[in-house]
Amino acid sequence: MRNSTRSGVDPFIVMDVMEAACKAEEAGRHIIHMEVGQPGTGAPKGATEALAKAMEQGPLGYTVALGLPALRQRIARLYGDWYDVDLNPDRVVITPGSSGGFLLTFTALFDSGDRVGIGAPGYPSYRQILKALGLVPVDLPTAPENRLQPVAEDIQGMDLKGLMVASPANPTGTMLDHASMGALIDAAQGQGASFISDEIYHGLEYEAKAVTALELTDECYVINSFSKYFSMTGWRVGWMVVPEDQVRVVERIAQNMFICAPHASQVAALAAMDCEDELQANLDVYRRNRALMLDGLPKAGFANIAPPDGAFYVYADVSDLTNDSRAFAAEILEKAGVAVTPGLDFDPQRGHTTLRFSYARATADIEEGLERLRLFMAQRDAISEKA
Ligand SMILES: Cc1ncc(COP(=O)(O)O)c(C=O)c1O
Repeated sequence: MRNSTRSGVDPFIVMDVMEAACKAEEAGRHIIHMEVGQPGTGAPKGATEALAKAMEQGPLGYTVALGLPALRQRIARLYGDWYDVDLNPDRVVITPGSSGGFLLTFTALFDSGDRVGIGAPGYPSYRQILKALGLVPVDLPTAPENRLQPVAEDIQGMDLKGLMVASPANPTGTMLDHASMGALIDAAQGQGASFISDEIYHGLEYEAKAVTALELTDECYVINSFSKYFSMTGWRVGWMVVPEDQVRVVERIAQNMFICAPHASQVAALAAMDCEDELQANLDVYRRNRALMLDGLPKAGFANIAPPDGAFYVYADVSDLTNDSRAFAAEILEKAGVAVTPGLDFDPQRGHTTLRFSYARATADIEEGLERLRLFMAQRDAISEKA
């Protein structure tokens, strides 16, 4: 059967790494997982309890397409608590994860062939979803001196209909401050491009609070999720904030594409928002892990890293060690028993010389992983010295 040209999207290489790690485990090896981009913890206890209660009370049918009104209101309150932004709950749309949010956003804003700028390195699915929708992803190669984030000059004369940023970003964990986010918004709006801000890692910050685009403009789409800070990846629930005059457009698409986000997940998500103690305890673990990584990775020989302001990743330039990050990641898995992600997923041009390390797991795993990496690199050095 013939496939559409739109369907020719690339695989997610990290999934291949996960599969290789899985096979090694099946063969009896113990693997430390630094490849996965998800919390090792489950949903907060209050969330599962609330869902258990709701299941006893009655059936969980469809909700309205925009999501449970109580959840939309609670999310609007979060913007007051976190950023001092007064948000009209009518602007909040509940989505099947932020991934569902991307589909709604790109469909609502763009026509076939439109060019949408994305930072490289960046979250791989932006590029693939854009392609699958007949849109043109335009990679904006970022520079270390700009913390591997796009800057306003990068989009001059690019003829973009949209610009998508993420702060904190995956794979780097770097953030945009008020000034750089503001400059990007101005530059995008100056060329008539819609500004989209992926804020999925908000709440996972270690030095300064992340800036929401809503502090700077109402003319943007903000995408967020319960997957990361709220530790609910498998529940497939997220949200968007859109301008008031865009709500109906998004609602019509949501009704037809998804009907609604999973009702059970919406109930759990609402309760998760009041589980601050548990979520902060998770954050404390990431904070400890991050400190261990920032100390241990350079000691192991991975010294060239972007300063990770948030999320739970460290992105390392390994061009002094390899020209083939995929083969290098396979070697690390085989010899050190540590699964890491080659940068190719995030940056097709330069990712052959980068690796992403995730520190979302338990601290004991991070300690063990760093020790294994140190030993592996020491042996590698010893072998290359002999040769
Ligand atoms: C930057 C970024 N955006 C979006 C997603 C997708 O998340 P969700 O589980 O909300 O679909 C991820 C997942 O890792 C991500 O890293």
